[in-house]
Amino acid sequence: MIYLDNAATSWPKPESVYQAMDEFLRKSAGNPGRGGHSMALAAEKVIEETRLLVARLINSPEVNRIIFTLNCTDALNLGLKGLLKAGDHVVTSRIGHNSLVRPLRKLEGQGIRITRLPPNPETGFLSARDIEEAIEEDTKLVVVTHASNVSGIIQPIEEYGAVVRKHGRVFMVDAAQTAGTYPLDVEASNVDLLAFSGHKGLFGPPGTGVLYLSDRVELDSLREGGTGSNSELEEQPIALPYRYESGTPNTVGIAGLRAGLKYIFEQGLERIRVHKQSLLLQLLEGLSRFPEVILYTPKDTSMQVPIVPFNLKGWEPAEVGAILDQAFDIKTRPGLHCAAAAHRTYGTYPHGSVRISLSFLNTSEDIESVLQAVGKITSSKNRAQ
Ligand SMILES: Cc1ncc(COP(=O)(O)O)c(C=O)c1O
Repeated sequence: MIYLDNAATSWPKPESVYQAMDEFLRKSAGNPGRGGHSMALAAEKVIEETRLLVARLINSPEVNRIIFTLNCTDALNLGLKGLLKAGDHVVTSRIGHNSLVRPLRKLEGQGIRITRLPPNPETGFLSARDIEEAIEEDTKLVVVTHASNVSGIIQPIEEYGAVVRKHGRVFMVDAAQTAGTYPLDVEASNVDLLAFSGHKGLFGPPGTGVLYLSDRVELDSLREGGTGSNSELEEQPIALPYRYESGTPNTVGIAGLRAGLKYIFEQGLERIRVHKQSLLLQLLEGLSRFPEVILYTPKDTSMQVPIVPFNLKGWEPAEVGAILDQAFDIKTRPGLHCAAAAHRTYGTYPHGSVRISLSFLNTSEDIESVLQAVGKITSSKNRAQ
C-alpha cells in the first residue's frame, strides 16, 4: 500500500509516535492538572513538554501562548469567533479551506463584513499590496491561508505580516499545510494568531491541533469548564493557556504529538524540506512526461509544499482516484478537497482534481509506483479508443 494523502492527515507516523502513545496510555494517562498524584503529574509533564516544543517550532515568545485544540478547524474557530464582533471588517484570501471559509460565512450572517481577495490567476500568489489596499477603517483582522491544500502554493506571509502590523490590525494565518514542512516564525512574520494541525506534517495523531495567540490579541473563550486551576471560582479563569483549554485534553494525542515534534527536531526541518522537495520534483517531472496529464502547479516549485493537483484528459478525478486505490493500492484524494473556492480560483471547479500529497516518510520508489500506475491508466484508455 502506498499512502499519498498526507495533506489530509499524515500516515504512517514515525515508530516513536506509536510507542509514545502506547507507553503514555499504559503508564502516565492521569488527568493533567487535576490532583497532585504521580499519574496526574506525569500527564501534565508531557503536555507542558509538548507545549515547549511547539513554542520552539514557531518561535513563540511565551510557552503559555500555545493552546492545544482538537485540530486546525477548532483552532481557526476559536481565533475567529473569539475575536470578531458585529461591525468588524475582515480581509481574507480566496484560497481557504472550509475550516476558514465556513466560520467566516457564519460570522458574515452575524454582522461581520468580509472582503475576499483572489490570487493572481497567472502566478497563484496574492500580493501584500492587494492586502494593504483592502484594509479599511473598521478592518479588525486579516486572515490568510499559508499554503493552499489544493495547489500547495506558499503565500508570502512575512510580507503580509509587515503590512498588517504597519496598519495595527490583527494578523491570523492558517498554517495547516506548512507546519512541519516550512519554517514558521510568529515573531519575524508578525503573526498574532497561528492555527495548525498536529496530525499532518507534525506527525501527531488525529485529534491534535494548536492555536498560538500573541499578547496583542485577547479572545473570548468558546468553551468554559474545568481547567484544574482556580476551582473555587464559578467564572472561567483568565490565565493562559487554561482560559481556552477547558475539559480533559487529548493527553494521549498530545503525547503522540510530542514524539512527532521530537522526531522533526531530530531530523531537522531543512532536511525534511529538501527530501520532500526532491520527491516533489521527481513526481512533477514524471507526470509532465505524460501528454494526458494536466498539472495545476506553479512554475516556481521553491514556494510550494509537496502537494500536486492533476487531472487526466478524458477522466473524472473520482475515477482516477478510485482506480489508483482499487487497482494499485495507492491512496490519493480526488475531488474538491474541502476547498471549493480555491478550486474555483484555480479553474478546477466543480469536478476538482486528483491530489497527491507527500510526507517525509515517502520514498522515491513510492513516486516511481504512482508514475507507473498513471502510465497504465492512460495507456488503458488509449488502447480502448
Ligand atoms: C489549509 C487547511 N486548513 C485547515 C485544515 C483543517 O485541518 P484539520 O483537519 O486539522 O481541522 C486543512 C485540512 O486539510 C487544510 O488543508
